[in-house]
Amino acid sequence: MARFEDTDLGVDPRASDAPAPSPRPSNGGLAIPSDGGNTIEIPATRSAISDAAQFMHNLSLAPSMKDRRGSRNSFGTSLPIPRSPRLSRLSSVQRGTPSVSRDIMASQVQDLNKEKTAKAKNMAFAFDIDGVLAHGNHAIEEAKTALKILNGDNELGIRIPHILLTNGGGKTEEARCAQLSEILEQPISTDQFIQSHTPMQALAEYYETVLVLGGDGFKIREVAENYGFKNVVHPKDLLAWDPSISPWSTLTEEEKKEARPQDFSKVKFDAIMVFADSRDYQTDFQVIMDLLLAEDGKLMTKAQDPVATRIPIYFSQGDLLMPTEHKGLPRLTQGAFRISVEAQYKTLTGVDLERVVYGKPERATYTYADEVMKSWMEELHGEARLPDNIYMVGDNPASDIIGGNMYGWNTCLVRTGVFQGGENDLNSPANFGVFPHVLDAVKAAIAKELGEDFKLKWNPKVNPVLHGDGGASAIE
Ligand code: G3P
Ligand code: MG
Repeated sequence: MARFEDTDLGVDPRASDAPAPSPRPSNGGLAIPSDGGNTIEIPATRSAISDAAQFMHNLSLAPSMKDRRGSRNSFGTSLPIPRSPRLSRLSSVQRGTPSVSRDIMASQVQDLNKEKTAKAKNMAFAFDIDGVLAHGNHAIEEAKTALKILNGDNELGIRIPHILLTNGGGKTEEARCAQLSEILEQPISTDQFIQSHTPMQALAEYYETVLVLGGDGFKIREVAENYGFKNVVHPKDLLAWDPSISPWSTLTEEEKKEARPQDFSKVKFDAIMVFADSRDYQTDFQVIMDLLLAEDGKLMTKAQDPVATRIPIYFSQGDLLMPTEHKGLPRLTQGAFRISVEAQYKTLTGVDLERVVYGKPERATYTYADEVMKSWMEELHGEARLPDNIYMVGDNPASDIIGGNMYGWNTCLVRTGVFQGGENDLNSPANFGVFPHVLDAVKAAIAKELGEDFKLKWNPKVNPVLHGDGGASAIE
């Protein structure tokens, strides 16, 4: 089937013929212009090494290697993150159904227990999601109780700040938080939530026309548009324009209606963004290779020099494995897709593919997490500061734990996800301990900070003012 021309599609070809106004020089490298506007650039943190030694890419992580590294990026790469953690378009505080009288009573109890309250306000948690709080769309039961305790079901009736820091993605922050709130039966706000691609909204300041890949249907388009990318192209748009671009893929009638084809031979792409796991590896591999091999991001061209005008490619995270409901080994995820892209590119061109990988354990993601944590502290306690005692609870030593360790957090490794080892992980041991599940990790952290006798139950029946006794009588 022939490709569509712009005139077939009602697109004004002059618009796509115009030079891309991206402020970034298209030189195939990944150096980004210095800090500016609403972004901060965070240098990548560790040295080059290979995912699969000489066969793959000299910048990737080899699972077999024993060294402890905190990045899948090379030195010299910088990863822009938003200067402010709360872009208004992402913000949606969900408070559940607060009761005024309960809040008043809790604040009275806290007033009467100043020392304990100060300690409670000086701790916080960062939770991984997959393998800690949930498996796919199913909550891990203990997680519900853990979040309930942190949301005030404790002797002070105090909310202990916690953010969710996941390498997952593929749908909007609002959609994911709504889904998590439902399955975990606790309110989760976008203001306490970071998924792998959330910090990548900063890239909208650098690139205008982007190919965005991964996730179900066209959901990822909405994500990228929410982030402010102006021209977001989905692989299905390319298939709708030219079905021969991916020989074995076809669109459903519904997808054809939703696709936005135009004459993409006239479009200059500025960057490629992989935001989530591919649902159509063949098409995604093909269109990524088409653009990486093209002259300055123009489809249907082939660059003489594979590096000189290559457009950049970004991956939202680098995990090789993820926990799911599957009872066997953990499932392969975006890291496996990236390694395949690297291998294809190296085989086709003979050179390593420069690329940027966001997500845990990348410093940029943790730096962004700090900003979100501070902002959430302000929301809960009225103080925009980082607590001294932050506990990361994760299931993947190679991302959650190594990142948390490097970042100076207390790390808790749980056995409900990727980690299936012995006493602790040998390469990236959790510094606070290994726990059967998230609830035990939360209980241990609270016991350390607030004392073994700290009650994990709020008693709504007793008025601390009437009963006096330093608020103790409010405790069951
Ligand atoms: O790596 C894939 C993703 O599902 C991991 O999510 O929450 O474990 O970081 P999470
Ligand atoms: Mg996990």
